[in-house]
Amino acid sequence: MKVEQTLSIIKPNAVSDNNIGNIIARFEQEGLRVAALKMVNLSKEKAEGFYIEHRERPFFGSLVSFMTSGPVMLMVLEGERAVDRNREIMGATNPADAEEGTLRKLYAKSLEANAVHGSDSLTSADREVSYFFEKSDVTDRF
Ligand code: CMP
Repeated sequence: MKVEQTLSIIKPNAVSDNNIGNIIARFEQEGLRVAALKMVNLSKEKAEGFYIEHRERPFFGSLVSFMTSGPVMLMVLEGERAVDRNREIMGATNPADAEEGTLRKLYAKSLEANAVHGSDSLTSADREVSYFFEKSDVTDRF
């Protein structure tokens, strides 16, 4: 099975609720490895660029303000089928639709403050990982 890397973001609501450790522990329990990690305050420009595909959506401005409202934890997760595994562990984008036990069911406050982001495909994962991390900052020694 192919080992993949994917981008995960612990969003401001989950950071301020002190759930960083719970979320990372869950990824580790599920067999994903943290290959890179940093905590940052996103600038408006950086958040807008990250969510550029949503720029025409009505929620874009509010999403950017939420993502810049407090620190976020940026992570590269690595493992077999990491892109899909991460999405399964997160649950549906809207926590109202998320299955029991998923990160969004457990830690989301709303559709916008939905605790975590994860890349939705390998192509997005490549773009998103390199949007935030230099190649030399991502470990490959597992
Ligand atoms: P995320 O996985 O980070 O990708 C885009 C984000 O936009 C999504 O999670 C939600 O936090 C936010 N969002 C707000 N409103 C909507 C909506 N109606 N549909 C999808 N995403 C939304």
